[in-house]
Amino acid sequence: MQTKINQYTEEINAFEPKSAEELESFRIRFLGTKGLLKDLFDEFKTVSPEEKRGLGKVLNEFKKLAEEKHQSFKEQFESGNSGQASDLDLSLPGEGFTIGGRHPLSLVRKEIVEIFKKLGFTVAEGPEIEDDWHNFSALNFPEEHPARDMQDTFFVKKDAENGDIALRTHTSSVQVRMMENGKPPFRAIMPGRVYRNEAISARAHCFFHQVEGLYVDENVSFADLKQTLFYFVQEMFGEGTKVRFRPSYFPFTEPSAEMDISCTICKGDGCPLCKYSGWVEILGCGMVDPNVLENCGIDSKKYTGYAFGMGIERITNLKYQIKDLRLFSENDVRFLKQFQSEII
Ligand code: PHE
Repeated sequence: MQTKINQYTEEINAFEPKSAEELESFRIRFLGTKGLLKDLFDEFKTVSPEEKRGLGKVLNEFKKLAEEKHQSFKEQFESGNSGQASDLDLSLPGEGFTIGGRHPLSLVRKEIVEIFKKLGFTVAEGPEIEDDWHNFSALNFPEEHPARDMQDTFFVKKDAENGDIALRTHTSSVQVRMMENGKPPFRAIMPGRVYRNEAISARAHCFFHQVEGLYVDENVSFADLKQTLFYFVQEMFGEGTKVRFRPSYFPFTEPSAEMDISCTICKGDGCPLCKYSGWVEILGCGMVDPNVLENCGIDSKKYTGYAFGMGIERITNLKYQIKDLRLFSENDVRFLKQFQSEII
């Protein structure tokens, strides 16, 4: 038995497997359930008690040797380092991977939100599927009034008795929800996706994104509205950008206005973007109509408020001179990756 152990020990010491398969044959030969170690232990049971003491120690050491040899090569193979020359070239450069970037609309939305946050506005959200009350009636759109056609609506369910269900056409619906569920003062902006039934072209899409704003408190005036929007424009488009207000009409504001800024390209000199007028329109705004405040349970004798709403696509187009709205929803990485270095 001693002779056999000596012979096997030599064999194990000289063993240098070149592959995992070779190592596996080694394991089966020595350590397997029908392996040589098992045979030796069986034989050990038959030796005389005098021999057992010395031989027991030798046998245990041999067992340890075989197990350690197996374990150390197993680890080497598993960590992919066989210690042997192989066709693995560790000096090759790694495989690169492309990281995604924020969508330009998300970047600009974030920029807009950050500016208004500095002025103390909170952010409010609401559902994209709305009922007639929140999207139209509470906002002072009379029934059958042509103003409803200003916003070609996608109806989800037509229901003359309980009111229609539709995809919201603006996030003003969130303003109604906010005023109904809280108490003044309110100072919040409402970013979100809105839907209008328009043919898709370079200049129109059936969905787009808005940030609307609402400020209701005692003694809120048009001067507050002007100053807030003026500050926003300086932050967003750079100091020195001029603003002008033109009278307009919205059912939910009185008086209403549209705001233009001096053209971001020609700075007012005249170019194709501003159609040689020097001005580009960026948003609608006005003082919240007292009817709207009353519809939402707010005392219009005590409180006044202003509201405004802008399209994020429009702001993004002006900021980056993007001429086709469809680019925003095509997900072409060549377009999207141009914005990666902007704020995260
Ligand atoms: N809700 C209007 C729109 O979608 C924008 C707006 C909001 C105008 C608030 C005035 C006041 O066009």
